[in-house]
Amino acid sequence: MPFDVNQVRLDFPALSVEANGHPLAYLDSAATTQKPVQVLDAVARYNEASHGNPHRGVHYLAVAATQAYEGARERVARFINASPQEVIFTRNATAALNLVAFSYGVANLRPGDEIVLCISEHHSNLVPWQQVARLTGATLKYLYVDEAYRLPWDEVRTKITSNTKITAIAHMSNVLGTIYPVAEIAAWAHRQGAVVVVDAAQSVPHLTVDVESLDADFLVFSGHKVYGPTGIGVLYGRAELLERMAPYQYGGDMIEYVEEQSSTFAPVPQKFEAGTPNVEGAVGLAAALDYVDGLGLESILRHEQELTVYALEELKKLPWVTIYGPQDLSERGPVISFGVEGCHPHDVATIMDSCGVAVRAGHHCAQPLMHYLKIPASSRASFGLYNTPAEVEALVDSIFKVRKWLGYGS
Ligand SMILES: Cc1ncc(COP(=O)(O)O)c(C=O)c1O
Repeated sequence: MPFDVNQVRLDFPALSVEANGHPLAYLDSAATTQKPVQVLDAVARYNEASHGNPHRGVHYLAVAATQAYEGARERVARFINASPQEVIFTRNATAALNLVAFSYGVANLRPGDEIVLCISEHHSNLVPWQQVARLTGATLKYLYVDEAYRLPWDEVRTKITSNTKITAIAHMSNVLGTIYPVAEIAAWAHRQGAVVVVDAAQSVPHLTVDVESLDADFLVFSGHKVYGPTGIGVLYGRAELLERMAPYQYGGDMIEYVEEQSSTFAPVPQKFEAGTPNVEGAVGLAAALDYVDGLGLESILRHEQELTVYALEELKKLPWVTIYGPQDLSERGPVISFGVEGCHPHDVATIMDSCGVAVRAGHHCAQPLMHYLKIPASSRASFGLYNTPAEVEALVDSIFKVRKWLGYGS
């Protein structure tokens, strides 16, 4: 069912902010999404009436907090089609990837083993693997996109081999918008005996992410990119892998018994959640997933695709704009990176900001991709469920202003 975007926008207080004297056109949802009142209220309600330290007390509020926290875990599990024991709360996607890299990776990699990544990985799914490769003697290999910003199957077939022990790949690139065929890659990688880590930070707000149909061994995402709070992220791990893994951090809440010289550890998922957890973040994330499900991911994606098509059509009319990403809608999400001839991306974003249009500029935490594309940086507009065609028009109008202000006729 399509939704009324103007009605939906009323749920997001931040969208009514005035930016530099203009109505805000918030086109930076790939960096972080704004939060609906439903999420803000759920967090406030928790803090007002249910806050305690979960798992540790028997009193009313400790029990209420435990129920809120474990209820949020069940909600997340349902959203990605996992079981609650397979959902570990982390600080964000980055922390979840570090957990996999340093717990699973360090214990399972040997010299000569290979870790295969895509060249478009976010640094969060790249730098931890570099460190793990250093520690273990494993080698990093990259899958390269073609000139249409798609991943040729030959790259997958020839690079993921029986030497590959880990394939870590984003479901959707935060720069190119490319949606990678994760299920097919996972099927191939599994045949070679590799474990598959999926970085779903960019796909979870837009696509149905089902860990079973993606055949993911591990999958991560962040709450703040799916209309939830900052400071909460998710690691999904296949139960039998999590059982075999050592804890990543040690301390309170993750133990079973502690003696003077040694300890035993709690079962999963608590084994991986040392210290007092971010209960309000988990509660807010659960409310965000309720909100997304309430609108329906299919309706959200359809709406965002309409905006993406509109933006791509308008940008393609400008001969001095280069788009870094696939043209075909079936292969991309609502993230559009672009260059404006003769204009540095930071100048582009700064001038657009003065028009109230919020876009991101820089290397987008994907420097190896920038080197591969032979560009220093790009500007990036990204859409969320609350964006409108009028904001696409504001985007295009502001790009014209950029060219004018920097001394070009148009
Ligand atoms: C594809 C991708 N992976 C991982 C991350 C890291 O997310 P966080 O900073 O929330 O840990 C991002 C953030 O932009 C991302 O786009």
